[in-house]
Amino acid sequence: ETALPLDMIIFGGAGDLAVRKLLPALYMAHAHGNLPRSTRIIGVGRHEFSREAYVDFVAQQSRLFIPPQHMEPEAWSRFLDLLDYVAMDATDAAGYQHLAARSRAGVERVFYLATSPALFMGICDRLAACGMVDEASRVVLEKPLGHDLESAREINLAVGRHFSESQIYRIDHYLGKETVQNLMVLRFGNGILEPLWRAPSIESVQITVAETVGVGSRAGFYDGTGALRDMVQNHLLQLLCIIAMEPPVSLDPDAVRDEKLKVLRSLRRMSLGDIARDTVRGQYTVGAVNGEAVKGYLDEPGIPADSATETFVALRTHVDTWRWANVPFFLRTGKRMQKQLSQIVIDFANPPFSIFPDAPRTRANRLVIQLQPEESIQLQIMAKQPGSGMSMLPVDLKLDLQSAFAQRRAEAYERLLIDVVRGRLTHFMRRDELEAAWSWADPILEGWRELEEKPLRYTAGSWGPDASSGLLARQGMAWHE
Ligand code: BG6
Repeated sequence: ETALPLDMIIFGGAGDLAVRKLLPALYMAHAHGNLPRSTRIIGVGRHEFSREAYVDFVAQQSRLFIPPQHMEPEAWSRFLDLLDYVAMDATDAAGYQHLAARSRAGVERVFYLATSPALFMGICDRLAACGMVDEASRVVLEKPLGHDLESAREINLAVGRHFSESQIYRIDHYLGKETVQNLMVLRFGNGILEPLWRAPSIESVQITVAETVGVGSRAGFYDGTGALRDMVQNHLLQLLCIIAMEPPVSLDPDAVRDEKLKVLRSLRRMSLGDIARDTVRGQYTVGAVNGEAVKGYLDEPGIPADSATETFVALRTHVDTWRWANVPFFLRTGKRMQKQLSQIVIDFANPPFSIFPDAPRTRANRLVIQLQPEESIQLQIMAKQPGSGMSMLPVDLKLDLQSAFAQRRAEAYERLLIDVVRGRLTHFMRRDELEAAWSWADPILEGWRELEEKPLRYTAGSWGPDASSGLLARQGMAWHE
């Protein structure tokens, strides 16, 4: 617990992320007594809100993103009392004096930068210039953290001029998800998996993050970004790190992040040939998701008619270490997919020899860790079908994490914001991690530019272009759906 009162200053305070995620998460944290007693939340934005108008805006908008069972009018109104707002242009020094005057003296300041990364440097410079940054301050950097290695380095350098590494919280909200944190417990809190957690016991790993949503109202951001930068470079690689890393010596932030860094550094760099063979880019076309007709990407408002941005990526990569030698890691993510599904699938090697003449040719053992929409862990094992003879079928041992624990499961942002307030860095990305992730992604982006291939089309509501299944079929494998 921090002793100091807290001023949480959110740049982009009236923006989409603040309204949908940050303010609801802060409300939940506050309602459960997880923010310091004297907290103030200062929204900063260009919109000319008065304090009252901002409070009304949040009261109406953010309310929609709080599940009704958690909406307690009294706690909600106590939360709204914490809010303040400063209308200013983040690129104009004048506004910062105003902000500094509004923030209290002798507090701990958390600056949450939920703006375009192009503004990060300027914001940090000006905050420092007006004397708002001290040893107690923390800065939270929302993704995207740059659009390639060079821009990420620039951001790191610029922010690093005013904040030491232990004051910088680079957020990847996947690291705040309960099931993602549970992966660490699954691997290192149990003794039975670790001896098998390697080649050749493991034959392949699949990571899928499929969404049903489309580009929505984020055309301006998304079209210049694409799925590799938006999802793979951060969320999927972070999942891959937790699956592939060596046991850290402790839960110390640097102990964990050192191990993740090693994974990122051992990801095989792709040559142009690898990119052509092992990556699939897709873009959704008109179709239907959950029975509802939806537009194609090129017809979405704000998307240029000739956009070549990918809304789907599938790829095969390798972690070149002793533990993972020759084990393919298949990653895929897409918008407007058939259903929402985030999962990790670990395929174990089949028995080396079968004594059962009728054994099906399917895979015997597969561990499926589902993050969304359900939170579950499933282990597929072979079992004998009742009756005479020895025929068998795979069946599931299933752990439903929602029903195993009665407690409320906090949203990722709530958990991560509490970590920021308490100064816990373990679930945030370190500078070198971020740069290593970009070092792997950059050549892929460059390769795509060089190859000049348009993304393959896939019907909204499907599982992506056929070539995505082809990636696995080549090795006699298939996506687990
Ligand atoms: C964000 C991406 O980081 O993650 C979005 O920018 C994506 O495009 C979102 O929709 C997915 O997060 P979640 O928690 O809904 O799986």
